[in-house]
Amino acid sequence: MIRKYIYGTPFETEAVTRHIDSETSAPAYGSISTENGFAFTYTMDDDDIIYGLGEANRGINKRGYCYISDCADDPNHTEDKRSLYGAHNFLIVSGKQSFGLFFDYPAKLTFDIGYTRMDTLRVSCENADLTLYVFDGDTPDGIVKQFRSIIGHSYIPPKFAFGFGQSRWGYKTREDFEKVAQGYRQNHIPLDMIYMDIDYMDSYKDFTLSSEFKDFPEFVREMKNQNIRLIPIIDAGVKIEDGYDVYEEGVKNRYFCQREDGSDFVAAVWPGDTHFPDVLNPEARKWFGDKYRFLTEQGIEGFWNDMNEPAIFYSPEGLEEAKEMARRFSETGTGRWDESTSETDGEEAVGLWQLNDKLGSLANSAEDYRRFYHNTGSQRIRHDKVHNLYGFNMTRAAGEAFDRIDPDRRFLMFSRSSYIGMHRYGGIWTGDNQSWWSHLLLNLKMLPSLNMCGFLYIGADLGGFGSDTTRDLLLRFLALGVFTPLMRNHAALGTREQECYQFENTEDFRHVIGVRYRLLPYLYSEYMKAALNDDMYFRPLAFVYPEDEMASRIEDQLMLGSEIMIAPVCEQNGKGRYVYLPEEMKFIKFLPDGTIYEEVLEKGVHYVDIALNEVPLFIRAGRCIPVADAAECVDEISMDTLRMIGYKGAEYVLYDDDGVHKDYDLAKNCRTLKF
Ligand code: NOJ
Repeated sequence: MIRKYIYGTPFETEAVTRHIDSETSAPAYGSISTENGFAFTYTMDDDDIIYGLGEANRGINKRGYCYISDCADDPNHTEDKRSLYGAHNFLIVSGKQSFGLFFDYPAKLTFDIGYTRMDTLRVSCENADLTLYVFDGDTPDGIVKQFRSIIGHSYIPPKFAFGFGQSRWGYKTREDFEKVAQGYRQNHIPLDMIYMDIDYMDSYKDFTLSSEFKDFPEFVREMKNQNIRLIPIIDAGVKIEDGYDVYEEGVKNRYFCQREDGSDFVAAVWPGDTHFPDVLNPEARKWFGDKYRFLTEQGIEGFWNDMNEPAIFYSPEGLEEAKEMARRFSETGTGRWDESTSETDGEEAVGLWQLNDKLGSLANSAEDYRRFYHNTGSQRIRHDKVHNLYGFNMTRAAGEAFDRIDPDRRFLMFSRSSYIGMHRYGGIWTGDNQSWWSHLLLNLKMLPSLNMCGFLYIGADLGGFGSDTTRDLLLRFLALGVFTPLMRNHAALGTREQECYQFENTEDFRHVIGVRYRLLPYLYSEYMKAALNDDMYFRPLAFVYPEDEMASRIEDQLMLGSEIMIAPVCEQNGKGRYVYLPEEMKFIKFLPDGTIYEEVLEKGVHYVDIALNEVPLFIRAGRCIPVADAAECVDEISMDTLRMIGYKGAEYVLYDDDGVHKDYDLAKNCRTLKF
């Protein structure tokens, strides 16, 4: 049962696609206050587990911390952080009473989940203008299904996007990209994509190419002949520069976000001063989306959208205020932290901490988000009130344009910032993680939560984006990435080079990534079934074994599809790990010599050995999965080589299609394989 409650005058976010009549009574769970903003309060039972919130910090069980939906460009995902890049306001209370909640509210929203008071769930925001959806259901899985049924089907990428991709911030020239292609192909490490970060552009201008690329279509073709797709980045900010067509058209047609006085808002990002396309305005969205043609017409088949919280390094207004404060500090301050209490020459003195604070908050400041407006066509609205919708609508601009460019073809698209609804147009990567073992685990925990919110095409920067990776961390990250729909190694400028061929014993990387390709028919099939049936691809164990109390405590193992469980090693120097089996399963290891180790393990806790160059998985009792022979790119995977592993006598329903077009007919594209 789905119930909808409207408070005040909510902004139409378009997260929900299905019409539901609204109720006039109060929700059956918790209590609502609209006196001072909005608050939903619910007293949790000791054993209640709270799931959801998509891309968020901490555990699969969100209990015990405070999270804030406020899309943030923050590259330091330390444990204390409350906001990351996405705003996914769906959660599930699972316990004596089980129900789901979706707060459709596009501004800052706080989820205090047993943080202020251990037994209290409190969801609150400043304005009582929102739509609340409440889902009854017996199981968390059933609740997710109901939620997913009202937000529309998840995005489906082309099949090549299930291959492995290499990325690095800093590749500039054609030679840089060719070197990567060579590094992979010569070492026979599989590869399907190379990502182009901001340096492929001319002065970081969207929809331009730097002079390094003389004949770009020829370069794209040359790469594609090696079965490698180039995937360029697109940033939100459009550089202010006379003569640059995107800038000039945007200004002329009033397509950029404006200040209160109607002038175009300026924000400094990579290209220097930029304007933000008003992607909440349908006309501007169409215009910006059509710009992707500049690259699709040159053979490009996929993109990643970045800096779309939107990230702001500083605004001219913010910078002026900081300069003024620095002036006052240099004239009146003495370097004492608490200076502001004293006066010098009639001017209030500025303390070092005040100056420090101001400089530290220049980037992505809440004040800047109040300095500009969107014009939706029917409404002018200040950005902070709809802040969390920007990344969604930038990606929607691209997604809608792809449908115009070629309605039958799939394009690869994923974004950094997002709101529920964006899952229909693209996937996401989980942003600037670090080369930390703790982030390997953190990234694993985000996966099922993201699936609950409709995001299926997901993955983390494997190896870690910030700081220097190590060979063992990269291998363990890859062994998780083998299973994530988006499998990409990406690293920040200035960090250690982490392409797989940079390390010793490249055969280990060839093997680990090779396992992805051997499993790809199964992984693709499970992805497609999840997308077409509004199901999850990754589930917490408790979703599959609701009666098993122990399963509900497991935070570092996941169920994938209907057949397997994964349990990556997330600790340095770990030669294996403890694993909990909620039922008998077959422990499978893909060994570096290409053979497959199999052992039946009974329900319970086991310690399993897993070497750095092995990829483990567990097949559920009575099930089986197909495995193909190794291949170096998706196009070379031969379905004729499929053989079954798991339990003899079992059957598997395999989905497959051409991976290019949108002919998704489940009945037509499925066949039963017997073991
Ligand atoms: C921030 C993104 O999160 C990162 O992946 C990218 O490399 C840099 N921007 C530079 O474009």
